Amino acid sequence: MSELKVGLIGNGSISESHLQAYLSNPKAELVAVCDLKEDRARETAAKYNIPHVYTDYRELLANPEVQAVSICTWNNSHAEISIAALQAGKDVLCEKPLCKTVEEALRIEQAVRETGKLLQVGYVRRHASNIAVLKKFIDAGDLGEIYFAKASLVRRLGNPGGWFADKERSGGGPLIDIGVHVIDLCWYLMGKPKVKSVSGNTYNKLGNRSHIENYDFYKAADYDASFNTVEDMANALIRFENGASLLVDVSFSLHARQNSAQINIYGDKGGAEIEPALAIVTERHNTIINIDPQISSPGFEFQGSFDREINHFVDSCLGLHETNCPVEDGVEMIKILNAIYESAATGREIQF
Ligand SMILES: NC(=O)c1ccc[n+]([C@@H]2O[C@H](COP(=O)([O-])OP(=O)(O)OC[C@H]3O[C@@H](n4cnc5c(N)ncnc54)[C@H](O)[C@@H]3O)[C@@H](O)[C@H]2O)c1
Repeated sequence: MSELKVGLIGNGSISESHLQAYLSNPKAELVAVCDLKEDRARETAAKYNIPHVYTDYRELLANPEVQAVSICTWNNSHAEISIAALQAGKDVLCEKPLCKTVEEALRIEQAVRETGKLLQVGYVRRHASNIAVLKKFIDAGDLGEIYFAKASLVRRLGNPGGWFADKERSGGGPLIDIGVHVIDLCWYLMGKPKVKSVSGNTYNKLGNRSHIENYDFYKAADYDASFNTVEDMANALIRFENGASLLVDVSFSLHARQNSAQINIYGDKGGAEIEPALAIVTERHNTIINIDPQISSPGFEFQGSFDREINHFVDSCLGLHETNCPVEDGVEMIKILNAIYESAATGREIQF
């Protein structure tokens, strides 16, 4: 007998990782799936023996059997569906980003408060096993006060197209799509300091580079090279009230020699590299020490992190602990991302 009955809303690419995680969690049972594309939802239901299929999320939410939902739809529907789900008495795991605008984020937060239901933001990188390891070092004070973080996710050719390239549905390009992951991760590891100001730049210089030949890259199912309204790349400096700062750059298109991922945090007693593999740096007896933690997954392991994220969500729904990715952390990130876009548009630093 499962303890938590779950519905999936939005049955595209990333939903497969949610499905696999629920399927391997003995406390959870998938009872409903919904997608605008009926064939897609029906195929999933048949494959995984899920009894209820919907094309309208409201009908899924009206099913009293469903206790919790994963929302894996385009970003422009996260707010509407999250609020409706909370009001229908369901606990919610909402994929990142929480939503598009600060106004939407505040409405979601209010719905959480009014309904008393749970909303966990899909910050999957917080659930990576190397982050659990690093967090123990940070919490024990081994890095001291973390005052600087640097995050960079560069795709030289990697605009997925489809809704990702449509600002109306996505809210933006690489900043809101992949920047959200690394800004959140650094902010979380820094101890969630209060933001003081944000300064950012966005560029639309290369477009989606759809003319490039002989180079494969990930494309959304509804890829259309003729349509792209999002930035190619973004960079930002985020200052915190405690004096710490975070420097970030992310791209879908850039004349970079290779794709790269770097996430580093620096404290007054030690530092850490998180991508591509966890490494810790400190000093002992007047000597610099590089520490290479001997762990099975030193880097970000995709499905394993989704498994841990969803196990954490299920246990949060069952009241076994509080979620470590609460709605407030989604709201704060939407404020930061929107401030970066505003700073880029106005050419000014935005004060919080
Ligand atoms: N955590 C991660 O690492 C990660 C990775 C990829 C995507 N995502 C997030 O997951 C979400 C989905 O991304 P994706 O890559 O799966 O996109 P996708 O285009 O592959 O799938 C989205 C699906 O949602 C459906 N959909 C859209 N609006 C709907 C609605 N109102 N009701 C029902 N179904 C609806 C679409 O028909 C489509 O099947 C996005 O918010 C994205 O940011 C997170």
